[in-house]
Amino acid sequence: KSIKVFAPGSVSNVGCGFDILGFAIDGIGDEMILRKNDSNKIHIKPIEGYENLSTVPTKNVAGVAIQALLDDLGSQQGFDIEIKKNIKPGSGIGSSSASASGAVVAVNELLGKPYSRMQLVDFAMQGEVAASGDAHADNAAPTVLGGFCIVRAYDPLDIIQIESPINLWCVVIHPQIEIKTKEARELLSTQVDLKKAIRQWGNVAGLISGLHSSDYNLIGRSLEDHIVEKQRKVLIPEFDNLKNAVMNAGALGCSISGSGPSVFALCEGENKAKDVNLAMNDVFSKTNIPFYIYSSQVS
Ligand code: HSE
Repeated sequence: KSIKVFAPGSVSNVGCGFDILGFAIDGIGDEMILRKNDSNKIHIKPIEGYENLSTVPTKNVAGVAIQALLDDLGSQQGFDIEIKKNIKPGSGIGSSSASASGAVVAVNELLGKPYSRMQLVDFAMQGEVAASGDAHADNAAPTVLGGFCIVRAYDPLDIIQIESPINLWCVVIHPQIEIKTKEARELLSTQVDLKKAIRQWGNVAGLISGLHSSDYNLIGRSLEDHIVEKQRKVLIPEFDNLKNAVMNAGALGCSISGSGPSVFALCEGENKAKDVNLAMNDVFSKTNIPFYIYSSQVS
């Protein structure tokens, strides 16, 4: 018996919610096929996609996450994993989380579902530790659970899934450069100015309220990140031009997706998303950096 999974990409931080907000995105994700084997070992085989994928289980986020699950269960079961890695590592759209989450969801199914989805987030996070040195859950939670998620607390993990408005669209541009999450985290100051913190948690509250009440204007007023974006945007070519163009095209808000280089914008409606897609395209076509743009409903 084998299981095929599509492990979606995700936008984390979502502007004001560093390490606590994220949502899954349609249209881009890793494809994986998993089956049990009799070797007591995890075998990883890449099929197309990203070429430099490590096949050593202790160095591959999927292998690390599965091992965390098996250790917790006290199981020696071996697995064969085929991965079509469509999301490049260092993209800012939850590459490591996609493989780690897809792997633990599939393994859990093959083992007869010993764990709840909520518990699986914990194992997927071990993949994140391997990739970035930190167990952040803002990609793993939406990738495992789907939709828009709040990480209310880390210790113990408390994740809340929230509904998002029906007509909320997301446009993500992925410039083909690599930013290592670990490095983008090391860049951040560990001190936060109280005035900025007040603006930030006001925005988090406003954003959640806006999502709940489908108040697009409130979502737009609340997205801005006053703490992290300024420190990281230096890593992203054209960031200010991109953000200006996107806002002029009518986006509700725009910020770095995860630790970059991807940049996301939220929009009300498909037509606005098309305008924003074109605006992103215009800015990046003038550079010599290859890029992809994905548009999808946030669901
Ligand atoms: N919240 C994490 C960060 C996400 O911004 O470092 C990394 O993908």
